[in-house]
Amino acid sequence: MRRPTVVGNWKMNASLEQTTNLLAGLTEGWSGVHQAEVAVCVPYPYLPKTAELLEQSNIAFGAQDLSEHASGAYTGQVSADMLLDFGSKYVIVGHSERREYQNESSELVAQKFEAAATKGLIPILCVGETLDEREKERTFDVIGRQLRAVTERCGLGGVAKGVVAYEPVWAIGTGRSATPEMAQEVHAYIREVLGPEGDHTAILYGGSVKPGSAPALFAQEDIDGALVGGASLKAADFLAICRAAE
Ligand code: PGA
Repeated sequence: MRRPTVVGNWKMNASLEQTTNLLAGLTEGWSGVHQAEVAVCVPYPYLPKTAELLEQSNIAFGAQDLSEHASGAYTGQVSADMLLDFGSKYVIVGHSERREYQNESSELVAQKFEAAATKGLIPILCVGETLDEREKERTFDVIGRQLRAVTERCGLGGVAKGVVAYEPVWAIGTGRSATPEMAQEVHAYIREVLGPEGDHTAILYGGSVKPGSAPALFAQEDIDGALVGGASLKAADFLAICRAAE
């Protein structure tokens, strides 16, 4: 019912040359992925090159952020239409690095989600708790609030137009993944908050996913795939994670 989905988040990594090599590595090494939806979210300047190199492939692509505005005097921002112009299918919203370093509030994230979904981009909504919040047993509370900011703006059906990624902040880039059981517990909670729409919303896990840890995560009932940072920068590792999602 829910398609397994694996998305690479390159963050602010790769040069034009590395982009070319990495995408060639993905298309050349592509085999054994039949069911899973696979996408890479690349830095803005590399979207045209990505569109060109992935044209004949089964790999979708997108960006890592967008403006909440449709157009206008917003220096440095990039709109949903601009992303669509280059064939983007996905856009990440509310990544914890943006919530933290760019001070993005859940309300702003909800506006971005709406800006993307209205235009037909698939927003990937990131939610997750910090280590301090987990230790204070506030995980469900935090995730619930982050989700509700979007459901209140877009409705439960609106959220179902996107993808949700549970990314515990303490697991991102640290090599310390949540255990499959820990992740499953939060994924089940997210599905519950989404109500009837939860059944057909893909919920991905993100945070130090590696080829070795992916199979046990994907074996969990409510984990539909992964949002992959570091391991998406190595073609062989990313492809191994995609195959594990089959
Ligand atoms: P990581 O990043 O896989 O390097 O932990 C995941 C993410 O930030 O999306």
